[in-house]
Amino acid sequence: MKICYVNFRDRNSSHFISSMLFILFLCTELAFCGTEAEAIGVCYGRLGDNLPSPVEVAAMYTSNRIGKMRIYDADQETLKAFQNTGIEVTVGVPNEKLPNIASSQDIAKQWVIDNIQPHYPTTQIKYISVGNEILPDTPYTANLFPAMKNIYSALQSMDLQNQIKVSTTIPMSVLNKSYPPSAGTFSPKITPIMQSILNFLSQTKSPFMADVYPYFAYVSDPTDISLAYALFQRQTPNEVGYKNLFDASVDALIYAMEALGHSDIPIVVAESGWPSDGNANGGANITNAKIYNNNYIKHILSGQGTPKRPNQILEAFVFALFNEDLKPGDITEKHFGLFQPTKAEVYPVNFTG
Ligand SMILES: *[C@@H]1O[C@H](CO)[C@@H](O)[C@H](O)[C@H]1NC(C)=O
Ligand SMILES: *[C@@H]1O[C@H](CO)[C@@H](O)[C@H](O)[C@H]1NC(C)=O
Repeated sequence: MKICYVNFRDRNSSHFISSMLFILFLCTELAFCGTEAEAIGVCYGRLGDNLPSPVEVAAMYTSNRIGKMRIYDADQETLKAFQNTGIEVTVGVPNEKLPNIASSQDIAKQWVIDNIQPHYPTTQIKYISVGNEILPDTPYTANLFPAMKNIYSALQSMDLQNQIKVSTTIPMSVLNKSYPPSAGTFSPKITPIMQSILNFLSQTKSPFMADVYPYFAYVSDPTDISLAYALFQRQTPNEVGYKNLFDASVDALIYAMEALGHSDIPIVVAESGWPSDGNANGGANITNAKIYNNNYIKHILSGQGTPKRPNQILEAFVFALFNEDLKPGDITEKHFGLFQPTKAEVYPVNFTG
């Protein structure tokens, strides 16, 4: 797996063709030789009134060798712009659509007919995240699992359920306990719904999608959490065996799933990132953002996995492509971008690790 991995990332060298043939050979030999770890993903948040067109954005993904893109809806113009790019796309069912989709199989099917069917497979839609951060507690919590099932059934009726996987994206606040990672457990309040969702993901061979932000953990507790631990700069493991907060967070989630009887569900890190402005003294500055995101990408592309799942492919996305001027909430929310709306980089990022 490691060998495949290194060679996949060799595509900018003159050995590309021979590497690809070599990989082809390996992949026929090794059933677990996946193709998805070759590239990092970047979330294409579109909450800005000054952003480039989707066609320009697709060109940015291609020229920077960003292999995966996540959007938060199923914007038709965007899905069209990414057609025939080979870029794997994650689309979202917006939260406010969940009550209708949960209540009616016909509405769910119509959503897939309108939003997915016209684009697949010309646009390589890989995952549908039904809702974003619905758990642990939003007005849509009760709609989540029925909506996931209805979207799945709709895909099944078109025989697309093996190509396009249905999941949902959760924040780390679904965990009741996350330290040490081996004590990871879900909040008791959402255990029943988590159990249903995990059973579903296991049956449908779909991943669980999580937003993992060491930045927020660090700013909420800078006395107990060191900046070096949050920025992947710690050299030696801590007393529970972790060198960085990212791995500790992902593993806490894996342990929580295990506690509900599921040790086989892959995690996709649907968002992670660091703001470059908005709280400079608290660590939200360009220096730290550049260090975090470059180290994060390198960590993901190294293929080392986490201590709980060593050497396993971890698909992951950086949040976000652009600074988004209309993003609500804390000022830092507007400064997670790797690029300005002008397409100028906020700081240099190496997307190939
Ligand atoms: C974790 O769950 C227990 C109940 O099992 C509760 O007493 C405790 O407050 C919870 N902790 C958090 C951080 O939610
Ligand atoms: C960025 O924040 C860190 C604290 O997290 C601080 O030590 C550093 O001086 C800041 N850098 C700039 C350029 O503001």
